[in-house]
Amino acid sequence: MYQDELKKQAAEAALDYVEGGVIGVGTGSTVNHFIAALARICHRIEGAVSSSEASTERLKQHGIPVLDLNAVGELGLYVDGADEANHQLELIKGGGGALTREKIVAAASRRFVCIADESKLVEVLGRFPLPVEVIPMARSFVARELVRLGGTPVWREGFVTDNGNVILDVQGLSIHDPKALEQQINNIPGVVTVGIFALRPADVLILGTQNGPQTIA
Ligand code: 5RP
Repeated sequence: MYQDELKKQAAEAALDYVEGGVIGVGTGSTVNHFIAALARICHRIEGAVSSSEASTERLKQHGIPVLDLNAVGELGLYVDGADEANHQLELIKGGGGALTREKIVAAASRRFVCIADESKLVEVLGRFPLPVEVIPMARSFVARELVRLGGTPVWREGFVTDNGNVILDVQGLSIHDPKALEQQINNIPGVVTVGIFALRPADVLILGTQNGPQTIA
């Protein structure tokens, strides 16, 4: 099976976790499959809180009402993809640049179900360049601080986040203590969000595999 079919398999399996109410919806190609699946049962939910302009547009195209997080309080369920996941369900996210809103919606949700194809499961996070969303004027300063931490930051040139900021993709990190590094990078002035999701990891990871969906919880 191709990678995209495995993403779809994981996305379809996540429907089992939808119990109604308002669903938090992430961003990316795996989530796009989830949105298509969710559209089939949209009569069972009140709507969705979206983590990006791209997902908002797609949700609306599928007839799923998009609600403001400020208007709905705590969410029961958040479904999102990942660029990497370890066995503790700590993640690297932000390949699509939506990490800040994704982290907000994940934090506002009781249960975070992560959906991915099996290639995303790793022993140690960091092979995927770590996205860091940064206030534009702080780009060079933050880049120097990230070098001090042992990484090689690369400016995602030409890319502006939904929040008007820039992204540094940090190569060369081997992340053995994701929670500590998440806090350390969060504390650099000018950093809006680091793409390590370890302080609030996923609760459930559904992997699309050649043998069918595999769930780690
Ligand atoms: C976007 C993300 C995505 O969840 C991540 O990049 C995975 O994307 P895909 O499902 O396309 O592999 O964090 O900011």
